[in-house]
Amino acid sequence: MNAAQVLAQFQATGVQTCFHGRHINPQIYAGLDGTNWRLKDYEARDGYKALRKILSEGTTPDQVIATVKESALRGRGGAGFPTGLKWSFMPRQFPGQKYLVCNSDEGEPGTCKDRDLLQFNPHIVIEGMIIAAYAMGTDVGYNYIHGEIFQTYQRFEEALEEARAAGYLGDKILGSEFNFQLHAAHGFGAYICGEETALLESLEGKKGQPRFKPPFPASFGLYGKPTTINNTETFAAVPWIIRNGGQAYLACGKPNNGGTKIYSVSGDVELPGNYEVPLGTPFTKLLELAGGVRKGRQLKAVIPGGSSAPVLPAQIMNECTMDYDSIAKAGSMLGSGAVIVMDDTRCMVESLKRLSYFYMHESCGQCTPCREGTGWLWRVVDRIHTGHGKPSDLALLDSVADNIQGRTICALGDAAAMPVRAMIKHFRPEFEAMIQKAAQSTAQPQGAPVSTEARSA
Ligand SMILES: Cc1cc2nc3c(=O)[nH]c(=O)nc-3n(C[C@H](O)[C@H](O)[C@H](O)COP(=O)(O)O)c2cc1C
Ligand code: SF4
Repeated sequence: MNAAQVLAQFQATGVQTCFHGRHINPQIYAGLDGTNWRLKDYEARDGYKALRKILSEGTTPDQVIATVKESALRGRGGAGFPTGLKWSFMPRQFPGQKYLVCNSDEGEPGTCKDRDLLQFNPHIVIEGMIIAAYAMGTDVGYNYIHGEIFQTYQRFEEALEEARAAGYLGDKILGSEFNFQLHAAHGFGAYICGEETALLESLEGKKGQPRFKPPFPASFGLYGKPTTINNTETFAAVPWIIRNGGQAYLACGKPNNGGTKIYSVSGDVELPGNYEVPLGTPFTKLLELAGGVRKGRQLKAVIPGGSSAPVLPAQIMNECTMDYDSIAKAGSMLGSGAVIVMDDTRCMVESLKRLSYFYMHESCGQCTPCREGTGWLWRVVDRIHTGHGKPSDLALLDSVADNIQGRTICALGDAAAMPVRAMIKHFRPEFEAMIQKAAQSTAQPQGAPVSTEARSA
């Protein structure tokens, strides 16, 4: 399919963002067409073979964990923590209830991969969770699904029913001694409920506010019991690993960054959508798959891992490969893999204002630096953007960000502070020019009226 055909398909299918056939060696999106999500379709794509393999061959839980470690699968939810290592933290000998939880809250701006996965390939997530439950000795699991995608939640419920009826879930799975009950739960759309401990609180029916860590969920998780939480895409990677081996998965990516990753490419590109490519693919190749920067425009900057990842200018991104280590070395984070592309028409002050507003809005309000600081950041950026900036504002922004970062209960505080610092670091002249313009026009103020709070920040 050429770029024009892909564009036509995007326009025709609207929200269906992954059927463009422009993935590279896909493992998770392979063979999907938007209609073939049912159990029989999944089985035709080798679905549930990995589960059958471990149960029929008598693979031990330790062997499953060793294979996942060997694969260098890293958590796809944001932090990129090694999955096999996380699974080994589960105290399997703990005598009471243990839980497995899938994080399908997906609220990070720019990220839209997990919803496609659940909608168009739900059984791959179910199979991944069953294998994880086997490896960690848990017999109850939950998939916590973002509240604003209710149709996807209903689709997942249907898939669960199919899996139960076929003997893949429930008691004595496929005639073995292994039991696993899996349930779906939906949130109500709060971004903070994607943070793993806020998610657990919400699952327990409480207000979704993060807990202090330690203790970590591996020792004190859902209802105070040992719990392992992974992202939807992380679980979806597991069946392929078990079928093909840890080494084969590792070989698909690059050392320490095994397998493929789904990138949600959005912003100023011709063909926004989800693209599954091997970790280590050059950024320029990913951009090319997404149709390149909008016609006639130049690449200015990229947020490579969702809105909380620091922005990087074009010249740095053009040298990067898309994997956890390369992006970290360049000064940002691969995060959830949401690649937000900005062309030369973008005003960085305005972009930062939007980001800051989001974090102010989503702060749960538990800790003072985040609750007060996120509002403060937004007010100062708003003041600069509306032509009322002061020469001291950039130092003020840096100081407020410094007083948030690393001083809060959860990483939302860091997520609010990091974009501010990165924007100013890489695009300082744009901020300074706006502030200077404001100083020159003090006699005749320009721009939209500034709010009372913005003036007094
Ligand atoms: C504010 C905030 C929001 C988050 N949102 C999500 C989310 O929507 N989905 C997700 O998988 N992880 C999210 N995370 C990361 C989770 O806390 C957790 O690290 C992740 O689910 C672990 O899964 P993984 O090891 O498979 O990546 C968020 C973290 C923070 C601080
Ligand atoms: S950092 Fe922000 S979102 Fe996280 S617990 Fe504190 S107030 Fe809540």
